[in-house]
Amino acid sequence: VTLEHDLAAIVGGQHVLVDPDLRASYEVDWSGRFKGTARCVVRPADTQQVVSVLRACAADGVPVTVQGGNTGLVGGGVPAGGEVLLSLVRLDQLEPVDAVAAQVSVGAGVRLEALQRHAKAAGFDFGVDLAARSAATVGGLVATNAGGIRVVRYGSMRAQLVGLEAVLADGTVLSRLAPPAKDNTGYDWPQLLCGSEGTLAVITKVRVRLVEPSTERAVALVGVADTAAALALLAQARRRFTTLGAAEIFYADGLSLVRSVNALPAPFDDSFAAYVILEAFGNKPTDEILDLLSECDAVGDATVASDPVGRTRLWAYRESHTEAINTAGVPVKLDVCVPMGSLVALVDQLPSTVTDAAPSSRLIVFGHLNEGNLHVNVLGAGERAEAVTDAVLKLVASHGGSISSEHGVGRAKTQWLTLSRSAEEIETMRRLKNALDPQNLLNPNVLLPPP
Ligand code: MLT
Ligand code: ZN
Repeated sequence: VTLEHDLAAIVGGQHVLVDPDLRASYEVDWSGRFKGTARCVVRPADTQQVVSVLRACAADGVPVTVQGGNTGLVGGGVPAGGEVLLSLVRLDQLEPVDAVAAQVSVGAGVRLEALQRHAKAAGFDFGVDLAARSAATVGGLVATNAGGIRVVRYGSMRAQLVGLEAVLADGTVLSRLAPPAKDNTGYDWPQLLCGSEGTLAVITKVRVRLVEPSTERAVALVGVADTAAALALLAQARRRFTTLGAAEIFYADGLSLVRSVNALPAPFDDSFAAYVILEAFGNKPTDEILDLLSECDAVGDATVASDPVGRTRLWAYRESHTEAINTAGVPVKLDVCVPMGSLVALVDQLPSTVTDAAPSSRLIVFGHLNEGNLHVNVLGAGERAEAVTDAVLKLVASHGGSISSEHGVGRAKTQWLTLSRSAEEIETMRRLKNALDPQNLLNPNVLLPPP
């Protein structure tokens, strides 16, 4: 009896995909850069089926690649070759919102947008938002400790996490979905799994906190002279606004690409080297933005919107970056962050660093200004992809930054993990991995470099 036969008995034959055509969309990541062949794709419907699938794989010693919405950008959810691909998208149950606790439990396969809608219907909001909202799953967001555009206000996924249900590689179910509000009874393993990129356990259910919805919002798109001016504007916005809801940056090259792919009009008569999106929540946000714009010397030009359509129109200049870049080719995507004091230097050094490593490439940079988190996208690197990665990540490390700010290490950056983590830290991570997954079955090529 083959493993595929066992898996079909667990999840039903129609949810074990062996045919290459049916597997294809699961075997390549969103950017098109990471590919691999899975032995089969298996789509369990509930936690008990996940347990049985993992037991069957463990019995045969077959490794497993765990996948949510497949929107990760570091190859963490794509097989390297020969793994069973465990897709969690059918674990899509939304439980009723607990309005007193302001929390909700949902299946790992629930899409971010569905969670946001569910929270809104109960008079709340969810604290994480990002451009891939229609496809990204809550389980994947926890597994990668995803960030996005609201980190400045609510923190990353880790800050929303209340509890988890997860399954270890041997099929053991750990459940700590609704712990008491104050509870110091030992290791906080849900927080340990957050950001572990599917290497320690398979997340099956998630409990998150919800936030109060901000009824009034206003957005400004501001043209500025450079990164230093953008930081001056950010500092004043933080002081001025009752609540800063978002602070994002992009540059002239990104704007022109986004405009040509999406046929968007120029936001201003003049062009600027850098553009900042600021969002204010709450207390007369339009007035707060207008006050800021009139008093801040860093403002070159600005446009403001407070209605939903206008806000979406301004956000499109920033949120279309990822898709526009992918339309132009398969990019090398490096998600980095440096201390705020080094951001100007990093932005200045990136063009020559990238051109030296990959002479005819095209660099597009954008990101989350408040955290000093830049998305460094390099198009046309071709065979120089590894050289570009090496040069940029070493530059970031020389500034004391992180080689992965919000996307994770995945398969893309394992060999550079030593730039951000000490040998002792990596060895301790390896011990944790060995303790929870001694056969090295879960996402074996992800996060940790080969010993
Ligand atoms: C974003 O901030 O839009 C995402 O991290 C996606 C990306 O880096 O392309
Ligand atoms: Zn981002």
